[in-house]
Amino acid sequence: MAPKADVLTARAPRHVGVIMDGNGRWALSRGLPRIEGHRRGVEALRRAVRAAMEFGLDYLTVYSFSLENWSRPVTEVSDLMGLLKRFIRDDLTELYKLGVRVKVIGARDNLKPDILALLEQAETLTCANTRLTLVVAFNYGSRQEIATAARQIAAKVAAGVITAEDVDEAMLAQHLDTAGIPDPDLIIRTSGEQRLSNFLMWQAAYSEFVFLPIHWPDFDRQAFAAALAEFAARDRRFGGVTLPPENVKVQR
Ligand code: IPE
Ligand code: IPE
Ligand code: MG
Repeated sequence: MAPKADVLTARAPRHVGVIMDGNGRWALSRGLPRIEGHRRGVEALRRAVRAAMEFGLDYLTVYSFSLENWSRPVTEVSDLMGLLKRFIRDDLTELYKLGVRVKVIGARDNLKPDILALLEQAETLTCANTRLTLVVAFNYGSRQEIATAARQIAAKVAAGVITAEDVDEAMLAQHLDTAGIPDPDLIIRTSGEQRLSNFLMWQAAYSEFVFLPIHWPDFDRQAFAAALAEFAARDRRFGGVTLPPENVKVQR
């Protein structure tokens, strides 16, 4: 394995979220059907997982299918479902051997039983792995995730398990699909679009964003390293101020 570059070890993020966008445009610009872009996108995902391990990340969250993506033509939706199934069938053993823990976030109630079974199989098989957590945002929408959390909390208040005064940020976070997962330090989006598209809106409150002009099928180790280098150069203040070191006085 290649040694970690200095820039990566110096200020490496723990958790990176990736909006894997641009598969369709990648294909169309080559005169190919959109499905070909999605196929090549799966290869880019494989590269991204390996690079994330090499760079020492703890969590990699990938946006693979949004709730809004159901509005695409039926054939494209069915192609995407087919690719997800094939990815799990073909890659699960390898991911398991690499030490990857798979965690799926997103709604489960409207999924076909075969897909649901594969997602659960992936999570169960890999649950004791610790090298990298691959969070797959599938059938995911941030607003629905937050609304579901609010509904669950409201039900607890109605049942008298908790009071309205108990409801705070930490409780809301514990009811999200990402409970227990640290917020993403960095969110990368390919394809040049600069928006969240309903991805991790609560969790991204203080994330850094890097928008890459390349389409997802072209994403590779080098593009990943460049995004991490940009992250390392950012000044994260979390609402505070950054003072030169000689001016820093810690209040006791
Ligand atoms: C991302 O590529 C993959 C999914 C959303 C499933 P797109 O399919 O959105 O590709 P573009 O944005 O149309 O080029
Ligand atoms: C976001 O990409 C969803 C995924 C990458 C899975 P979209 O292509 O669906 O987002 P919009 O429509 O450009 O906002
Ligand atoms: Mg897109």
